[in-house]
Amino acid sequence: MIFSFKNEMPTSRTRLKYYICICGDSVPSANAKQLKPMKLYDIAAIGELNVDIILNGIESEPEIGKEKFAREMTVTLGSSTAIFAANAASLGSRVCFVGMIGRDSFGSLVRTSLEARGVDTRYLVEGSTPTGATICMNYGEDRANLTYQGSMDVMGFDDIDLTVFDNASHIHLSSLFMQSGLLRDIHRILDLAAAKGVTVSLDTQWDPLEKWALDYKSVLPKVTVFMPNEKELQALTGTSDLESAIAAVQPWLGCAMLLKCGSRGSILILKDGTRTVLPAFLNKDVVDAIGAGDSCNAGFVSAFVKGLPLEECQRTGNLTGAVNTTAAGGTGAFTSLDAVRKVCRERFGYEIKL
Ligand SMILES: Nc1ncnc2c1ncn2[C@@H]1O[C@H](COP(=O)(O)OP(=O)(O)OP(=O)(O)O)[C@@H](O)[C@H]1O
Ligand SMILES: [Mg+2]
Repeated sequence: MIFSFKNEMPTSRTRLKYYICICGDSVPSANAKQLKPMKLYDIAAIGELNVDIILNGIESEPEIGKEKFAREMTVTLGSSTAIFAANAASLGSRVCFVGMIGRDSFGSLVRTSLEARGVDTRYLVEGSTPTGATICMNYGEDRANLTYQGSMDVMGFDDIDLTVFDNASHIHLSSLFMQSGLLRDIHRILDLAAAKGVTVSLDTQWDPLEKWALDYKSVLPKVTVFMPNEKELQALTGTSDLESAIAAVQPWLGCAMLLKCGSRGSILILKDGTRTVLPAFLNKDVVDAIGAGDSCNAGFVSAFVKGLPLEECQRTGNLTGAVNTTAAGGTGAFTSLDAVRKVCRERFGYEIKL
């Protein structure tokens, strides 16, 4: 049987079929799901974990040698990959998290917060380095962030319980440049995922050091769906315009790229160059866009692991990105699948397909 990524829109199910075919088993047109036992998790999120210490009501900027007051403080689960995982779980996906925390109270807060959002924490690793923290100082519309990476920077391939590659259908990797251990071991992770027939999505996020030390020509062919935003794509490829950036990565795509363009929506680009431009769902009343990219990833990947066509995954991603902007922070609008359904129907006139 011949199966080609070029001729068929791969979903995680067709991808699984592909792996079975190249292994030589006879699978005429049977649903691959019937041939393999269902896995424990739809998605394993591999990424950074930290707490956010959010300070509000600060009268003026910090100054060396002086002490100042903030009138409000919130200590909460931070991290872009955690927003992804929590929201994917709210959307009905079975999600586990692979990440490193310290043996400290921040680590406990991270663990219990993930569990409260329906994310399985059995694959969290506890190390001797303290849990990371970001101090977010808000001054009106502006904010200054200071991050101590801590344990997130330590975790590498050897820390991961490899049974996760057997237990999850899909791996979502995020915030690579915040995690030097993962960045170093990226090929070991991707190669094992491929060997186990696990599909992969990757959102590198911005590189705070702006070194962009990721060889996309060797990494992207092993990634099923690459999910950058426009600025990140240009920085990664060292190009000055978006068309050149797209042209640089397109031949190296494993299957597809979801290019996120903020309030303008997204572009789905396949390896063969096919493009689907999809405007954003218009929200005239944006509360904030914190975490819109992660919520978009959560919608796209949740649709993908359900076996929906890539265009529907894109639409779901745009929708959940827009839903994100209807409440404060990255998870505020994702209290339950019913709540998300209601916002989609009432604010955006669209029935989400999850
Ligand atoms: N203001 C908005 N109104 C409606 N939809 C939006 C808005 N902002 C973002 N979205 C939707 O969310 C998707 C992802 O957002 P965005 O492009 O900002 O991702 P990102 O840059 O990765 O974000 P992040 O900074 O959270 O990592 C967009 O493609 C769009 O569909
Ligand atoms: Mg992003």
